[in-house]
Amino acid sequence: MSQAIARYEFIHKAADYASLARELQSLLFGEHDLIANAANTTALIYHALPDLNWCGVYLLRGKELIVGPFQGKPACVHIPLGKGVCGTAAVERKTIVVPDVHAFPGHIACDAASRSEIVIPLFGSSARTEGDYLLGVLDLDSPKPARFDEEDRRGLEALAAIFVKSLCA
Ligand code: SME
Repeated sequence: MSQAIARYEFIHKAADYASLARELQSLLFGEHDLIANAANTTALIYHALPDLNWCGVYLLRGKELIVGPFQGKPACVHIPLGKGVCGTAAVERKTIVVPDVHAFPGHIACDAASRSEIVIPLFGSSARTEGDYLLGVLDLDSPKPARFDEEDRRGLEALAAIFVKSLCA
């Protein structure tokens, strides 16, 4: 089965993110596998959003993040919690938007073309844990400076929530 990915102009960002969210819901419908859904989520985002050079997940393993499914050039595998943009977003438990990666202390450069970045922490929930637990992060890089704004943050957090929810059987 081939998947057609809708093309969006992202001029009306809120509306386009809402359409993309519906597309992601339908793409993941009925599937709960972490790797499969991370792969399809990052592929959908990578091909739908303009001006990206990397989109992927890092998954929490012990005290570090390990690269998971992604689109883009090969990336660094291990990121300790608290390091780089990814490790910082994971520890602070909040989305970090970086307009200029060169101005972010400790930024880890995987692709020299990256100029701006957004990292969204992914929180799962289970009956066995009290409250949410950190699953990993969703990381997007762009070769354009200041590529991500507040509307991107809201839209991408909504997509991240759909991905996390899909993992619950
Ligand atoms: N720039 C990230 C590392 C991951 S790559 O961008 C794929 C960071 O500073 O955590």
